[in-house]
Amino acid sequence: MSEEDSTMTTTTEPVRRGVSPTALPTRLRDLVARRIPWRSLEAPFYTDPDVFALDIEAIFGRSWIFAAAEAEIPEPGDYVTITLGRYSLIVVRDDDEQVRAFHNVCRHRGARLLMEDRGSVGNIVCAYHSWTYGVDGSLRFAESQSADFDASCYGLRHVHVRTVAGLVFLCLAQETPEDFDEVAGIVEDYVGPHDLTHAKVAAQIDLVERCNWKLTMENNRECYHCAGHPELNCSIFPVYGYTPENLPPRLQGDAERLRTATAEAIRTYDALGLPYAAREELDTRTTGYRIEREALDGAGESITVDGAAAVRRLLAGFPTAKLGRLGLHLQPNSWFHFMADHAVAFTALPISPDRTLVRSTWLVHADAVEGEDYDVESLTHVWKATNLQDAGFVERAQLGVSSPAYLPGPYSSTEYQVEAFVNWYIGRLATLPAFSEQVDGLQPAVHGDLTW
Ligand code: FES
Ligand SMILES: [Fe+2]
Repeated sequence: MSEEDSTMTTTTEPVRRGVSPTALPTRLRDLVARRIPWRSLEAPFYTDPDVFALDIEAIFGRSWIFAAAEAEIPEPGDYVTITLGRYSLIVVRDDDEQVRAFHNVCRHRGARLLMEDRGSVGNIVCAYHSWTYGVDGSLRFAESQSADFDASCYGLRHVHVRTVAGLVFLCLAQETPEDFDEVAGIVEDYVGPHDLTHAKVAAQIDLVERCNWKLTMENNRECYHCAGHPELNCSIFPVYGYTPENLPPRLQGDAERLRTATAEAIRTYDALGLPYAAREELDTRTTGYRIEREALDGAGESITVDGAAAVRRLLAGFPTAKLGRLGLHLQPNSWFHFMADHAVAFTALPISPDRTLVRSTWLVHADAVEGEDYDVESLTHVWKATNLQDAGFVERAQLGVSSPAYLPGPYSSTEYQVEAFVNWYIGRLATLPAFSEQVDGLQPAVHGDLTW
């Protein structure tokens, strides 16, 4: 077997006894097939260990997943480890400064290699019997092997990895989604000007939400609940996802301010040549996404308690801090805000059917000095508060859907991105070989004109 053959992963391995993407139990097939559009999912999607195992294999195993910012691994040997269900993955910068990704499993007898979330290594040394791998994944040392032992057959199992505008994505599948190049090009166009390849990590906070990962994502994709986010509402207009047709009276004033701020912001974007138009293909392609640059409230500069920049040294040498925010949503599990002064990246990493790690990473200019150009508390204040509020919402949701009394309820039109997320999710499951017949309800989640 060649090195290449021996290191690729496959998506057809059994997930749990009786659950594999190619041979789904009828119970799971029926669940997917009878999903009703514009209604929340049935309880097993949030609670059933078999659905969770399927999600890891069929959703996380077949998508490009945002794993880290390049700024998290600036030097050769720097690594992070990522856990996706039962998978553990290493993302490391090699000696040629290329980003690599491997399964965190020793090729001897399978011990987990790196136990920490992050660190720096010269080589990757297994703590069990000291098999030693280079940061390129090659096996460099294995004691007391026979003369015909071929170390080239026992390199670490590679995982596909690529960087886009300073963001690292990995894909477990042997054959990666064909449409990612196109989406990556769009992300490069919009995010590239923020120059995140010259950024550093100012803060990173992990929060374990007591819910299924899909409840984390559904909650992220709507602002129907934004009255519960007083800190966030100081800078993000809480009309997100609304149209003039479904806007409640309580938000009329916010919409008026947004219209005024948008007109000014567009003049700035045009002057600087920054793309801003909304592009949205959340459930009409394999790599679902939404991207838009839009105005912020208050000072209009950043997501802070008054909308003013939290970092004096701006990203990319921008000539103004007043760029609003560039928002990016990627299916299945990440979302981002890129401002002039900093960027914040979020990723939802499934731990178990009812536990999800939400990792928030704040990025600032590589030369920004803590204590002079920014302080971490001001930088992180809004999202620390908002994330805890969201954790409360999704925990309530998990408790509710776990009750035998739960029945799927209707989404409002302002929750169209929740519908789009769920529609994308069901659509991806429906492409599994186990589905020979068409699954209903896979029309795109249409919505009104979101232009203000
Ligand atoms: S399991 Fe890693 S060296 Fe033995
Ligand atoms: Fe929220």
